[in-house]
Amino acid sequence: MTATDEPLDREWWKEAVVYQIYPRSFNDSDGDGIGDIPGIVEKVDYLDALGVDVVWLNPVYESPMADNGYDIADYQSIHPEFGTMDDWETLLEELNNRDIRLIMDLVVNHTSDEHEWFQRSRQGDPEYEDYYYWREGEPEEPPNNWESFFGGPAWSWDDEREAWYLHLFDEKQPDLNWRNPDVREEIHDMMNWWLDHGIDGFRMDVINLISKTEGLPDGEHGGGEHFIGGPQVLDYIGEMVDETVADRDVMTVGEMVGVDAERAREYVAEGGCGLSMLIHFEHMGVDTGHDKWDLQELDLLELKRIIGEWQHTLAEDGWNCIYLGNHDQPRGVSRFGDDGEYREESAKMLATFQFTLQGTPFIFQGEEIGMTNTTFEDPEKIRDVEAQNFAEMSLADWGDDYAEDVQPILEDMSRDNARTPMQWDDTEHAGFTDGEPWIHVNENYDEVNVAAARADEDSIWHYYRELMDLREENDVFVYGDYEIIDREHPEVYAYRRTLGEEELLVVCNFFENEPQIEMANLDADAELVVSNYDVDGIPGDKVLDLRPYEARVYRQ
Ligand code: NOJ
Repeated sequence: MTATDEPLDREWWKEAVVYQIYPRSFNDSDGDGIGDIPGIVEKVDYLDALGVDVVWLNPVYESPMADNGYDIADYQSIHPEFGTMDDWETLLEELNNRDIRLIMDLVVNHTSDEHEWFQRSRQGDPEYEDYYYWREGEPEEPPNNWESFFGGPAWSWDDEREAWYLHLFDEKQPDLNWRNPDVREEIHDMMNWWLDHGIDGFRMDVINLISKTEGLPDGEHGGGEHFIGGPQVLDYIGEMVDETVADRDVMTVGEMVGVDAERAREYVAEGGCGLSMLIHFEHMGVDTGHDKWDLQELDLLELKRIIGEWQHTLAEDGWNCIYLGNHDQPRGVSRFGDDGEYREESAKMLATFQFTLQGTPFIFQGEEIGMTNTTFEDPEKIRDVEAQNFAEMSLADWGDDYAEDVQPILEDMSRDNARTPMQWDDTEHAGFTDGEPWIHVNENYDEVNVAAARADEDSIWHYYRELMDLREENDVFVYGDYEIIDREHPEVYAYRRTLGEEELLVVCNFFENEPQIEMANLDADAELVVSNYDVDGIPGDKVLDLRPYEARVYRQ
């Protein structure tokens, strides 16, 4: 029950906790070194024990795997490495039997160049010729100056059609032409096919890139102004929602590049185009400089500013998705916490932060045991196309040295950090596979693993469980209003959540230092509902002395 008189705008997906599974790295059932769907089925009881409500499955579709499945060759079949459609049906059923829902990844800004549509398009088949962005010209000069998110030009020359095609990501990921109504209809049909199979929604890959400025003109800074939130993006997404999910009780999570909170309202607020929430990138920039590879010290005041903007702007209308890591980011604890001496404390602090903001928490596999970044002393260990491109450019074009210049950057920022196998136990390959894993296992698996974490009552794993219980039992965690406390404090992020008479006070020390913070509104008899350290009581002067990465949540 809530302590407010106002009826809450309840939705199951607001109250849910989402768990993201990167299938290649989750659990391998057949010893080929690659995680698969039967491997996930083996772990549904684990997900149930952890207490999550929704699984977001990264792509498992037919794919040549140039970008680990984000290059789809057939939207309606399962890649044999991952299993079969029957395996997928079993997974859905086993999850649903445990009241866990399933959302699928929808990757429709681009396909694989091995998709039949592209094959026919490059042959000039009249039905498909306009499914992608093609431009005539000279093979030496791309049609415009747009740049790929993975580095280099966003255009490749195709010898067969003797024309250029656009790819905002890898050259094996040609962009679909959303101006073509046939393309849109094919996508809507495909989405309805999956929805009819009983899924509970989609996470929509880079969905605000689907509209490009007419004429594809040159741009500044890689051309982003012509394809990020392009001219028809709201129409296309609105139409897609109307044609697929509008009358179904499902969740839709749009992944969006370059969107701020105000712009987000156009997608998720009343009168917008009907998505439930967005995965945005604003807070992923609080510790980087000129680009994603340039890691800097965390700017906590900037984090407060950004989170505050999103909390306030979507408070009345709209909803937030709260994440600190995923398959595209380094490990959250290594990046925003400390993966050395204070790994446990800082992982718990970050979890406290994530579960006490207004929004739906997304846990990335392994976060619940505090999995960390890994090492790349040998370039042979690199798997990710983005990291590979970066290393190549750095070595060839800028003349850098691998060990000195490239390796430390990869160890901080490469996407491969998040993709090392899930660490189940301390047996060989961390219990992930009986074969040779497709990517190396993090060397700390003998210490950081699920079996050890579940056996230790004080572990990060049990702390997550506790936070999930609290969130489930107290509406104020989910629906409470957010208000910052001591905005200028350089090390401590503190805030209040209120819902009617209920109030939470949250205090998170983001650093290894031992700062103080005055919590003037803290009642002497406030209840400490969760903390990552033992706490002695509330001092009379309301000044809290915090230990490294300490987090506390009081209820009053
Ligand atoms: C975002 C996905 O999360 C990422 O893994 C992928 O490389 C790009 N979109 C392209 O699909």
